[in-house]
Amino acid sequence: MKNHAPVIAKVCVMGWPIAHSRSPLIHNFWIRQLGIQNAIYERLAVPPAELQETIRNLTDWGFIGANVTVPHKEAAFASLLRHDADARRLRAVNTIVMTEDGFEGRNTDGYGFMANLSHAAPNWQPAQGPAVMLGAGGAARAIAAALDDAGVPEIRIVNRTRARAEALVKDIGLERATIFGWEQIDQALNAANLLINTTTLGMRGERDLDIDLTPLPAAALVTDIVYTPLETGLLKAARERGLTTVDGLGMLLHQAVPGFEAWFGKRPQVSDELRNLVLADMGIAERKI
Ligand code: ATR
Repeated sequence: MKNHAPVIAKVCVMGWPIAHSRSPLIHNFWIRQLGIQNAIYERLAVPPAELQETIRNLTDWGFIGANVTVPHKEAAFASLLRHDADARRLRAVNTIVMTEDGFEGRNTDGYGFMANLSHAAPNWQPAQGPAVMLGAGGAARAIAAALDDAGVPEIRIVNRTRARAEALVKDIGLERATIFGWEQIDQALNAANLLINTTTLGMRGERDLDIDLTPLPAAALVTDIVYTPLETGLLKAARERGLTTVDGLGMLLHQAVPGFEAWFGKRPQVSDELRNLVLADMGIAERKI
């Protein structure tokens, strides 16, 4: 007897811990919205010691692709044989896609960051002036590379640990970067066109960033990759000064778009409906954006 059970296209997000990932909410919303049949997006709790074996077994377990989150992005890069240019530059993978030649590791974090800015602040022009980036961790690497690709004339990195900022500049080959200490923040903000927080400061449970924004020009854009709370202390201070602000939730939503399109063949939209669904999951009431 023939087996007529439909083939299910499964995708997962791998992390450790993984319980709080909102990727299943986002991708399953698009699967339903776009009417994709027999597809499901799951959470997979993968301890670090099991990552390599899990990636090796993805196909046998029925997965056509995956997302990779903390703490596995660098280890996933090392476990895969093929990568796109962004993943190669960052030596980190957040999206795994099946190609004719097998699984390929990609990195869509920088895309998500830039897409969020261009949707939320369409008048902002990357080439118009220096960008100040607070922090030099994993997220900062993806953002710095994306800003570099977008033609930002100077990337000013402000980090507590100078050596980490130096390693970032060297590893991703930034040619137009300057490194500042926190005590030089006024100088870094002077004539800047963009201020980005990539540190964990301002996140719920952490202390707020305490920065005097006076040196920032009135046309500067301020954004934060922290999105819990949605309006961080930095964004509130910027708004109160009359500066344009963009919150970090959009980066999470937009970074998911290229993966979904690659797995399921349809390009999803980042809509207010999706944003409100994620806000509701975060315990924040729906609101008009
Ligand atoms: P991610 O990969 O998510 O970017 P990360 O690699 O832990 O996270 O990076 C966290 C960033 O926040 C770093 O730039 C870190 O500064 P150091 O490189 O000096 O560690 C910054 N950060 C975290 N806590 C901080 C604090 N209390 N004061 C200043 N910077 C802080």
